[in-house]
Amino acid sequence: MGNLLVFSENDMLGHVTHVDTEQIIIEIENSNLMNKICVGNLVAIETSKQHENLIALIDKVTRKYMETYMDEDNEIGEMMASSTDYIKVSVIGTYYSVYGSVHDLFKRGVETFPQIESKCYEIIGQNLQNFMNILGKDIDTDKRLKIGSFMMDTSAEAVLDGNKFFQRHAAVLGSTGSGKSWCVANILEKASKLKYTNIIVFDMHGEYKSLTEGTDAIAQSFKIAGPGDLETSNDDALFLPYWLLNREELLSMILDRSDSNAPNQASRFTLHIRSLKEATLTREGKTDTLKTFTVDSPIPFLMTDLLELLKDDDTRKGMGKNGPIKGEWEGKLTRFISRLETKIADKTYGFMFQPTDEIQMYNWLANLACRLLGYQSGQKGIKIIDFSEVPSDVLPVVTGTLARLLYDIQFWMNEQKRTPFTLVCDEAHLYLPIKEDADAVQKQALYNFERIAKEGRKYGVSILAVSQRPADVSKTILSQCNNFVVLRLTNERDKGVIKNLLPDSLKSTIEFLPLLDVGEALVVGDAILLPSKIVLDKPLETHRPISATKDFWDEWDNNEPDNDAINEAIEALRKQCRG
Ligand SMILES: Nc1ncnc2c1ncn2[C@@H]1O[C@H](COP(=O)(O)OP(=O)(O)O)[C@@H](O)[C@H]1O
Ligand SMILES: [Mg+2]
Repeated sequence: MGNLLVFSENDMLGHVTHVDTEQIIIEIENSNLMNKICVGNLVAIETSKQHENLIALIDKVTRKYMETYMDEDNEIGEMMASSTDYIKVSVIGTYYSVYGSVHDLFKRGVETFPQIESKCYEIIGQNLQNFMNILGKDIDTDKRLKIGSFMMDTSAEAVLDGNKFFQRHAAVLGSTGSGKSWCVANILEKASKLKYTNIIVFDMHGEYKSLTEGTDAIAQSFKIAGPGDLETSNDDALFLPYWLLNREELLSMILDRSDSNAPNQASRFTLHIRSLKEATLTREGKTDTLKTFTVDSPIPFLMTDLLELLKDDDTRKGMGKNGPIKGEWEGKLTRFISRLETKIADKTYGFMFQPTDEIQMYNWLANLACRLLGYQSGQKGIKIIDFSEVPSDVLPVVTGTLARLLYDIQFWMNEQKRTPFTLVCDEAHLYLPIKEDADAVQKQALYNFERIAKEGRKYGVSILAVSQRPADVSKTILSQCNNFVVLRLTNERDKGVIKNLLPDSLKSTIEFLPLLDVGEALVVGDAILLPSKIVLDKPLETHRPISATKDFWDEWDNNEPDNDAINEAIEALRKQCRG
């Protein structure tokens, strides 16, 4: 068809009066439109070719006054003021209604400049919507990723190209309270309209619970097993047993690299784990797997068996010519063993070191993976994993291990049978910090996420990073993102980071980031035709994240503090679980 842009005389602003390589000036003839014209709005300028329109951004709006005397001979003659309105625009690209065999194409850059007297139209309303949505024009209306409306004309819906948005990692960035969580809920809501959505949300504060409850729930709920879940068989409580961790992940938690015996400790530890995994495979009759498994393969073994082997090393005497001598490993593993035992006994690490018998079964992992990545009738494709009870020092291990596990499963899956999935990393600065600041455990987690950021696209795994402190988030991850939703951002350092991520032509847009209102965002990337300011949709009332900002002043006047609740909180603090 190729008639996405249809202009009427009402949209006509005026004619081109000045053209040079940098700017085009248009004299406004339609003064009714003058008060609607804003810097940053889009206009279309006719060219000599029928199917081509130049698309330009308004840089400047001016009204020139001219004062003239009615009668120059008469010294006290009346003075007349007249005004002419001009806009200065810069061309950003060309819209082709027909381009070879393609319809409705927008290309950056300019081939032909307009002539003087060419007509200029304002792009608003349906035209704006059609133009901006060229990328997603073939998608059914109810399946589009509509995230809001354009600030330059809120009657035009802002739709992102869902393929491009999720394909190559994206980031939602903005100061605290700017509307990031609502934005994520909004995107999840839209994604839930698809039949087999596959999104896993790392929910740091348990604020997305609302999406998993009630009759209009759109997501499955999981939580990392806290101290209170270890004995109950709560189906939603996720365990990440130690045998899922690879050698490096385990060692990053247990090994003290400054210990002079660290190399010995690491080598005995590795050797024993390998032999215990081998024993499991033999017992399970997995002859094929036996041939090629490695120490990093996720195969169950018992921690008590491992401890026994390590303790044997640590105490065994050697055999000399004249009777027993000091053993080769004797006393060298003592400190390592005690570090390991401390971890095992620590209930906050229960989800890792205190798995139930069921979790130790060979098939448990496959069942878990099916629940997280597979499809079961009646189950939702969006999974919210609540990390709110995970202590902050363990957070990187848990997020990193889970992300790696999911990635590895996808990696080893038959290429034709993979369904792509996205990891939503809420509060990413907490576990994806910039490298120099990271400790051993964080580095390991970071390594896992950075690998996904770099290679995930090939296997259909992407990251949606959400953070209030972009300056503290791994540069490797942010620089791999192709799309950014930037909400209000006031901190200079954070603004600087965004600035570096934007193409040169957009660097100036940084300056209005502090001026955005809650729920307003600058969206940049290949999922949208042009970088645009967008008023984000609110999620449905029932789906709103429970981060609801407290009204201190009102609450101080209305809510009596509850002493019983304080008592319960103290006990919960002791139990390390909210009960
Ligand atoms: N799109 C929006 N429209 C209107 N109000 C919003 C919008 N997004 C957020 N808000 C308001 O801002 C508050 C904080 O939003 P939230 O998403 O929790 O911020 P963040 O996650 O960035 O800290 C919400 O409780 C809500 O009142
Ligand atoms: Mg939030």
